[in-house]
Amino acid sequence: MMNKTILITGTSSGIGKATVYEFAKMGWNVIATQRNPATETDFNQYPNVKLYPLDVTNLESISQAMSRAINDFGKIDIVVNNAGYGVDGAFEAMSDEIIEKQFNTNVFGLMRVTREAIKHMRPTGGGIIIQISSMGGKITFPLYSIYHATKFAVEGFTESLHYELSQFNIKMKLIEPGPIVTDFYGRSRQFIKPTDTNQYDGFIQKFNNAAEKVMKDAEGPEVVAKMIYKSATDNSNQMRYAVGKPGPMLLVLRKLLSDKLYFLMVRKSYNL
Ligand SMILES: NC(=O)c1ccc[n+]([C@@H]2O[C@H](COP(=O)([O-])OP(=O)(O)OC[C@H]3O[C@@H](n4cnc5c(N)ncnc54)[C@H](OP(=O)(O)O)[C@@H]3O)[C@@H](O)[C@H]2O)c1
Repeated sequence: MMNKTILITGTSSGIGKATVYEFAKMGWNVIATQRNPATETDFNQYPNVKLYPLDVTNLESISQAMSRAINDFGKIDIVVNNAGYGVDGAFEAMSDEIIEKQFNTNVFGLMRVTREAIKHMRPTGGGIIIQISSMGGKITFPLYSIYHATKFAVEGFTESLHYELSQFNIKMKLIEPGPIVTDFYGRSRQFIKPTDTNQYDGFIQKFNNAAEKVMKDAEGPEVVAKMIYKSATDNSNQMRYAVGKPGPMLLVLRKLLSDKLYFLMVRKSYNL
């Protein structure tokens, strides 16, 4: 049987890069895509990994990467929509440009890649589209209003889409990571602080202090890569895969608790 082929977006670091390694080790044909692949050398040791340019905000680059993949391997079996980043901070200080860029990457970019993947998978017998959502697509924390809005959008979009695509044997999967140690909290982070007031300072400080403690116990991106591999190979119709402690436990609590109790729990844990 021919090796299966997977295309992954946003593989320059974190979850995307760990996912390339995971599938490459398992012998898959891996199309690792990046905005700026020119300086990437980490995948050189894997002859089954091909590196193509793809920026999810640029439709042309998405079509070209998919065409090249089909040209090289005949078919794409799995697409992983991983590219994304987080804006956090006080909402009132976020410009239209900041909000639109966040949606253009996390939501519209993911939709563009999904649409191009469907156009390829429908006539070729199906496939799996795996969206890297977040526990933040089902539950919320302070100061991440716009990021949560994008991940809630990804959840609703994907859940509705699965109804119309199952007739074509295209499965939709949602990976919901908890806090994972990656560049998400470093170079990729866009933190927005108001410049015209200091009234948010105390709240932001308390939140940051508690968030730092959470990250001390956070897991690395490999656990997410393994969960993505499971979702790609378990032959099930399961849609959601929670991973990365304490994410799965928080998702269960959110289902069990009333709004009032859940909000109280979050406020207490951040000392707010
Ligand atoms: N880390 C967490 O705690 C966590 C938790 C839940 C969900 N997630 C989600 O996991 C995904 C991966 O994040 P990560 O934690 O691995 O962070 P990361 O290490 O910062 O990786 C983000 C990746 O997305 C790429 N990217 C950003 N904008 C892009 C664009 N327009 N086109 C193509 N690629 C783009 C980045 O590429 P550049 O190098 O070009 O910037 C980078 O490769 C994101 O969707 C994030 O929302 C993360």
